Amino acid sequence: MRLGLVGMCLLIGLSGCNRPEVEKPLPLTAEIGEGLYALKRCSTCHAIDGKGGNIGCDLSRVAKRREKEWMARWLKDPQAVRPGTRMPDMGLSDEEALAIAEYLDTRR
Ligand code: HEC
Repeated sequence: MRLGLVGMCLLIGLSGCNRPEVEKPLPLTAEIGEGLYALKRCSTCHAIDGKGGNIGCDLSRVAKRREKEWMARWLKDPQAVRPGTRMPDMGLSDEEALAIAEYLDTRR
């Protein structure tokens, strides 16, 4: 249920309908990244620890092959890194891409 909780916190935090005067920047932690990974449905195409699709590569050990900075750039705009790639632009903000890269960097 950890993912579910993080996801809910994110949703509440991002919608900001309760307290619009408090605008906190998204903390770029691996936990937030993990929640975003679930929210953005990366697992439709990617598997981690045996869960998820197989259209994209398995990301269980992605940090062994990829630098965190590379992943953040890739997530922000896959086409810019590798023109013609089948990975779609997920419409992530810079912060979201950085947080997800932070999470993927823990996958070694
Ligand atoms: C529609 C399917 C699809 C979705 C959704 C998707 N990806 Fe991908 N992803 C791919 C494919 C296909 C590749 C391989 C692209 C290539 O080699 O050109 C890839 C490659 C990657 C890579 C590079 C891995 C490597 O070692 O080269 C990372 C990291 C990644 N995806 C993360 C994500 C994350 C995080 C999300 C969610 C925000 C996501 N992907 C959503 C299909 C998808």
